[in-house]
Amino acid sequence: MSKKIILTGCAGFIGYHTGLLYLKKGYKVLGIDNINDSYDKQLKKKRLDHLKRDKNFIFKKCDIENLSKLENIFKFFNKGTKPIAIINLAAKTGVRKSTSEPRLYFQSNLMGALNIAQCALKFKINKIVHASTSSVYGNSNEKSFSVDSETSSPVSNYAASKKSSEVLMHAINKIHKINITILRFFTVYGPFGRPDMSPFIFIESNLRKKQITLYGDGNQKRDFTYVDDIATGIFKSQKLKGFNILNLGNNRPIKINNLLNTIKKLSNTPNKIKKTRSLLVDVKYTSANIDKTFDLIKWEPSTKFEIGVSKTFKWHQENRKWLKKIKI
Ligand SMILES: NC(=O)c1ccc[n+]([C@@H]2O[C@H](COP(=O)([O-])OP(=O)(O)OC[C@H]3O[C@@H](n4cnc5c(N)ncnc54)[C@H](O)[C@@H]3O)[C@@H](O)[C@H]2O)c1
Repeated sequence: MSKKIILTGCAGFIGYHTGLLYLKKGYKVLGIDNINDSYDKQLKKKRLDHLKRDKNFIFKKCDIENLSKLENIFKFFNKGTKPIAIINLAAKTGVRKSTSEPRLYFQSNLMGALNIAQCALKFKINKIVHASTSSVYGNSNEKSFSVDSETSSPVSNYAASKKSSEVLMHAINKIHKINITILRFFTVYGPFGRPDMSPFIFIESNLRKKQITLYGDGNQKRDFTYVDDIATGIFKSQKLKGFNILNLGNNRPIKINNLLNTIKKLSNTPNKIKKTRSLLVDVKYTSANIDKTFDLIKWEPSTKFEIGVSKTFKWHQENRKWLKKIKI
């Protein structure tokens, strides 16, 4: 009998790559997603089509805010072998949009997380891996963000919703002793990425010869982390017991200007950049301290920035036919 896992947000960027990894390792994967309209749904449909090619992948369209529907799905998948974990990646994503729609973010990211935890308890699934974000560190002045750093000063509604879900998960672990691992991801990029994030927007704009709106002077730094490394980190973290918070980041922050230059070199075409004021919700810098992650699960990223961007760029080149129609 194959091992089973439940993966929410499976049509999303990280969910898709995580699903592929589990399927490759022979798991049976129940994927859940509501296919929301955070960005062009075409991308989500394409990702799902890929996952559905594997007979061990089952998809259920469901909103994690809908507890009774979620319970029915869990009941169905719980028959026979019990899933060894729930990986909760479903979330309303995008820092900037969270300013105008805070309620939607809290509904999916906090109440949705509560429903996932309730299902885990009801169906006696003893492990939750829950996605959080480097955004919880806000505008930290620390050189690299350790999981013991201050996180009670988020600067966006998105970060606040994710921090709230971390606090909720902590209480659930204390009360019910269920194993919970919180993973704080740092600016993830790679093939099949998100059209609301800079690597996708910059590459597509360059290839379409369209103007790029650059917020700030481009000297802000992000700890870009390649998506396959993130999927490996998720997989490795499923074995942890108790309550843990880990960073999954690259520990090597890169200037946004450096990303733009790398793309320019790969395409041999200049970027058409229009600079504008940086936004309050955009932090200036992110950098992960991954000492604890290495200690506990022996994880560190293996993809160098230049290699990761080059693989991502190649994927964009190879998929021009349909990608050029994706709204950015
Ligand atoms: N991509 C990054 O750089 C990054 C960084 C930090 C944290 N994260 C976190 O990682 C997780 C995955 O992010 P991603 O980049 O793949 O984003 P994504 O938006 O591509 O994927 C999220 C998926 O969840 C689904 N979803 C949203 N709300 C839902 C709901 N209520 N019910 C069911 N499905 C729902 C969406 O339709 C989407 O397919 C999220 O929790 C996100 O907050 C991502």
